[in-house]
Amino acid sequence: MRAITIPEPGGPEALVWAEVPDPQPAEGEVLIEVAASAVNRADLLQRQGFYDPPPGASPYPGLECSGRIAAVGPGVHGWAVGDEVCALLSGGGYAEKVAVPAGQVLPLPPGVDLVTAAALPEVACTVWSNVFMIAHLRPGETLLVHGGASGIGTMAIQLAKAVGARVAVTAGGPEKLARCAELGADVLIDYREQDFVQEIRKATEGKGADVILDIIGAKYLQKNVKALAVAGRLAIIGLQGGVKAELNLAALIAKRAAITGTGLRARPISEKSAIVAAVREHVWPLIGNGQVRPIVDRALPMAEAAEAHRILDASGHVGKVVLTV
Ligand SMILES: NC(=O)c1ccc[n+]([C@@H]2O[C@H](COP(=O)([O-])OP(=O)(O)OC[C@H]3O[C@@H](n4cnc5c(N)ncnc54)[C@H](OP(=O)(O)O)[C@@H]3O)[C@@H](O)[C@H]2O)c1
Repeated sequence: MRAITIPEPGGPEALVWAEVPDPQPAEGEVLIEVAASAVNRADLLQRQGFYDPPPGASPYPGLECSGRIAAVGPGVHGWAVGDEVCALLSGGGYAEKVAVPAGQVLPLPPGVDLVTAAALPEVACTVWSNVFMIAHLRPGETLLVHGGASGIGTMAIQLAKAVGARVAVTAGGPEKLARCAELGADVLIDYREQDFVQEIRKATEGKGADVILDIIGAKYLQKNVKALAVAGRLAIIGLQGGVKAELNLAALIAKRAAITGTGLRARPISEKSAIVAAVREHVWPLIGNGQVRPIVDRALPMAEAAEAHRILDASGHVGKVVLTV
């Protein structure tokens, strides 16, 4: 088969579409003939040599895919050759075939075509696991989403609105904020022009956000704690603003707040499978009834993965960039 390989870490040109050996489905795995994958910011880090795949994962980038099941390994129940599916991967989505634990496979959500479905597993699983399974966002609460127009952000806005929460977003500039408003965001904060702590307080009568989904990390840590409501929950999932920060713990104690950090990729198969099952139970019906939809900025052929990475690097996109085989 062919896959996007990274012979030497570097810029987008480091991605090379090359002949590689076919993967084989091990016990408990299915082999997917890939129709499409989608780009995640983590892939950019892997390309640069800053984010090695976890032990046992495919060396090729790609944390999600859609396609047809081409083979079923021993001990797999519930999936058959020919099924159209999408899947959460530990790597290897930028390829013509990928082997994946059966628990990380999902049927296509009702009404979503095979290519578009590739844009869903990573954002649906990350947002559901963090905002709902860990931070327990409840109806009527306020969620602050940093980077509302990102792949993650576009899913977080829609899911939070679907469960009856109020959503505030940050994004860089009016165009991205307008797209967030179309998806249902109630409070729009241009982080280049406005202070998000002040704006979230204004929007919540001084109370703050009950849950914050953060992709910035160190640079926003102190401000995020200030922006939290009493008993607020800060879920850190990205480190675009650095990894080390200082925090006055008295502020955390005064708010009885919680800070969590998780990465989906390195979680054990059992945990990923539980998240995938929860997404199938809670998120798929919301897609089926039209309350939540995949947001795809554009689709490019897999061989043009380098161009897709340039698009993410430049950050002009809204939602996901898909790669088709
Ligand atoms: N932990 C996990 O399991 C997990 C899983 C998936 C993704 N993630 C993380 O989630 C983040 C989003 O991923 P993605 O694939 O959806 O990436 P993406 O679409 O490329 O989005 C990145 C976003 O960051 C925004 N941004 C940059 N600086 C910002 C700032 N100072 N304040 C607010 N927003 C800012 C950009 O918006 P502007 O152009 O408006 O600046 C852009 O929309 C990444 O950090 C990724 O690593 C984590």
